[in-house]
Amino acid sequence: MADIHPVPERVRAGSPSPIPDMDRYREIYAAAQNDPEGFWLEVTRQRIAWDKPPTMGLTGSYHEIAQGPITWFADGELNATVSCLDRHLATRGDKVAILWEGDEPGDNRRLTYRELHAEVCRLAAGLDALGVQKGDRVIIYMGMVPEAAVAMLACARLGAIHSVVFGGFSAESVRDRVRDSLAEWVITQDEGLRGGRKIPLKAVVDQALDGEHGVKKVIVHQRTHVDVPMKEGRDVFYQDVVAGRDAAHPPTIVPAEHPLYILYTSGSTGKPKGVVHTTGGYITYVAYSHQVVFDLREDDVFACVADVGWVTGHSYIVYGPLANGATTVMFESVPTYPDPGRYWDMVQRLRPTIFYGAPTALRALAAQGDTYVKKYDRSSLRVLGTVGEPINPDAWRWYYDVVGEGRCNIVDTWWQTETGGICISPLAPVTATKPGSATLPLPGIVPVLMSPDGHIQRGPAEGLLCLAVPWPGQARTVWGDHERFVSTYFQHFKGYYFTGDGSRRDKDGYYWITGRVDDVINVAGHRMGTAEFESALVSVDEVAEAACVGFPHPIKGQGVYAYVVLQPGVEPGEPIEKLMNGACRTLIGAHAKVDLFQFVPGLPKTRSGKVMRRILRKVAEGDPSNLGDVTTLADPGVVDVIVKGAKSL
Ligand code: WT7
Repeated sequence: MADIHPVPERVRAGSPSPIPDMDRYREIYAAAQNDPEGFWLEVTRQRIAWDKPPTMGLTGSYHEIAQGPITWFADGELNATVSCLDRHLATRGDKVAILWEGDEPGDNRRLTYRELHAEVCRLAAGLDALGVQKGDRVIIYMGMVPEAAVAMLACARLGAIHSVVFGGFSAESVRDRVRDSLAEWVITQDEGLRGGRKIPLKAVVDQALDGEHGVKKVIVHQRTHVDVPMKEGRDVFYQDVVAGRDAAHPPTIVPAEHPLYILYTSGSTGKPKGVVHTTGGYITYVAYSHQVVFDLREDDVFACVADVGWVTGHSYIVYGPLANGATTVMFESVPTYPDPGRYWDMVQRLRPTIFYGAPTALRALAAQGDTYVKKYDRSSLRVLGTVGEPINPDAWRWYYDVVGEGRCNIVDTWWQTETGGICISPLAPVTATKPGSATLPLPGIVPVLMSPDGHIQRGPAEGLLCLAVPWPGQARTVWGDHERFVSTYFQHFKGYYFTGDGSRRDKDGYYWITGRVDDVINVAGHRMGTAEFESALVSVDEVAEAACVGFPHPIKGQGVYAYVVLQPGVEPGEPIEKLMNGACRTLIGAHAKVDLFQFVPGLPKTRSGKVMRRILRKVAEGDPSNLGDVTTLADPGVVDVIVKGAKSL
């Protein structure tokens, strides 16, 4: 019999969820499928504070997406921060909104809803005084400090569009994002702190903006108080921006489809694209999914240990939990600092009831043995979540048995930057789990498995994962390039959103995500495009050509495998590998690194010059036995050389 885990009694008992059991799930799922517009209008009216409640559901469709974005709740008006802050003041003013754990264990700050509201208002007032206007783009390049959340919310307060750039990205990447979004404002900090190391955030911003003239002000929060050069007329300290400002600043009311934020993410080709999320639909979807997946209760402490630089931080550190009036943890450090017990040490001290992390961290910690976990009291935990990549059954069982002591339900949540929120996942008090399966779709989400030639697979099957029906939280477009949005997601299968993932569905209708089927590599839950790696590698003078693919990595999920053709006369070896990884760090960021290099005399190309990536993937995966048809290659001989010289960890 398959490995099925019923919901532990402790998780089921006392659930306040609108979906407390499987029968209700089926009912609500069917209702949402029969009348999506009615369903979501009802959800948003119940959960979101609208200035002008919407009467419209959906406009547009996937079939007509080339003509323009879909809309949800288009005649409604609101400001997202009213749902996240103002409306909680009467009932939850003294409840902790943000519970911050700094890089050093036990370095905590607590901001109540009243304090967070006041701080957001002060920064909004300060930004307003500087000239930030509705619709302006604001780049936020910060570490995991409460001020990063404050900055996001202050932008939203003004109707300005934030674009958070993960603090590991390089100056080059920051510059690309400033240019693409035409941002006029940057909010950063002197230095970041992660695992005892200092990250020179302000210095990177200075480098990124060198020679750029579009940015009017750089606002600098002081985290470490190190001396940073301040550019006359451009740079101002955060403290000076908020000083003397009023603790109440009126929210700018915007139409539902006003953009809330842009978040850049990597795809198969070209530079990262600016995924656009709008206000009304997004806030509705993150509030709803956060409650029903995690079974949020009033006195829960919700600890999502992601970074606000990724969508997980946007949706489930900031917007979802705050819209639901929850206490949300912000974690500045890393799971291995000062030792691999850090998460559980924090759990013992802060007593979160829900913990949400990445499989890659769990695999790394499991490899260190159980004593780091068992040392600490984890009795507060009720729900354990994972996100970002497929979780292998071994890591799942370790999470369930060792971390959760069999008392907690595991929610393996599948979603993407583009989906805005969780789409396929167990609902904590409802769904029996199977290790390695993201289980079932949320109400309103209709997954479809396609064959490569566009036939819908029914029943137990394997295929390309598409979503058939629009939902409010999904991305509307790519910033400045709607055509790219259409061609990336809607051209493979007419009328369907194509996720880029493959999946299997078992006889119980459970989904098992198998990973990306495109040229996106998911390293330690960080999404990177092979094209970005390749252009970094060929920026090195000694490199003639390069092709990158993913390969299975025991800790990181996937690693990066690079096939490199050197210029004539250049010696392969470590010095050139160092140069190439230096280029990845400079052009992409600190988290971008090639794990395995293979030097080859040429790449396998078709006669029309297209690199046959399928062959490269198979060899990198250590499975060169079945390479398929290679007769169309210009030089089939190169395949033997590649197979013979294959590298492994
Ligand atoms: C890609 C999206 C979702 C927020 C963090 C990542 C992979 C995500 C799972 C999961 C298997 C998963 C997919 C997806 N992924 N969650 N539970 N099981 N795969 O967001 O950077 O946009 O990456 O992450 O491949 O397409 P992202």
